[in-house]
Amino acid sequence: MTAQLMDGKAFAASVREKVAGHVSRLKEENGITPGLAVVLVGEDPASQVYVRSKGKQTVEVGMNSIEHRLDAETPEDKLLALIEELNNDPAVHGILVQLPLPKHLDEDLVINSISPQKDVDGFHISNVGLLGTGQKAMVPCTPLGCLMMLRDYHGSLSGMDAVVIGRSNIVGKPMAMLLLGDSCTVTVAHSRTKDLPDVVRRADIVVAAVGRPEMVPGDWIKDGATVVDVGINRIERDGKNVLVGDVDFASCAERAGAITPVPGGVGPMTIACLLANTVTACCRANGLAEPEGLTA
Ligand code: GUN
Repeated sequence: MTAQLMDGKAFAASVREKVAGHVSRLKEENGITPGLAVVLVGEDPASQVYVRSKGKQTVEVGMNSIEHRLDAETPEDKLLALIEELNNDPAVHGILVQLPLPKHLDEDLVINSISPQKDVDGFHISNVGLLGTGQKAMVPCTPLGCLMMLRDYHGSLSGMDAVVIGRSNIVGKPMAMLLLGDSCTVTVAHSRTKDLPDVVRRADIVVAAVGRPEMVPGDWIKDGATVVDVGINRIERDGKNVLVGDVDFASCAERAGAITPVPGGVGPMTIACLLANTVTACCRANGLAEPEGLTA
């Protein structure tokens, strides 16, 4: 079997288009422009690339982008004071503090100081709890993007066996909660899982989010399964620097019914979902109907 490609680049473009439509309605009918504040502490090169891309796409869909770049040595109380200011600013509907933070800053404390209603990353403990109990939450962007793509491809996910490889707070755990919310039977596998190949072979849906280049080979994949690859790993191959996922694409595509490529799969969905979350947060803050199809 040769898998159908799940084109995240095209899907992300359609999400951004929907977001842009909602933004223009909010402006015209309600006089509100959604605003997203991004805080970057330090000069991590990968983070700088992400933050620039977020700012650009925020403006492209018609929202206000507010960027705060702080020195790597910024003391914690100064960062917390900035977050408090953004929490109280009615023009700011979403706040994202780029991770990882420099070592002297307490990441949990910082994240939990963001107003849960403005926590467009969905990392605040309140949002984690709301998602885990099936209540209306802000949902982490990458797993939300995976869920949107899976729903788009399958329609209903009800009753499907899903295996999530990886148990991070950013992807693995919220992904498991979302799949459970859509009535999948969910297994969360990780580095200590026994017989990982057998566990993965049972899955109708495999979500790989471990950060290990090409660790899932095709012979772990059940015929016709759907493979969602969250990995973004840079490796050297034939003297070239290339981007690969957590699954071995060529062999998995032979077995899968559908698969996301790297690049061009899940990656572009993350920022698209961040924009979607910002519109959702803006609507909720103003007591307006939420955009359909952009939330879990
Ligand atoms: N660093 C890498 N991914 C993310 C993300 O989704 N959100 C934030 N805040 N930082 C990140």
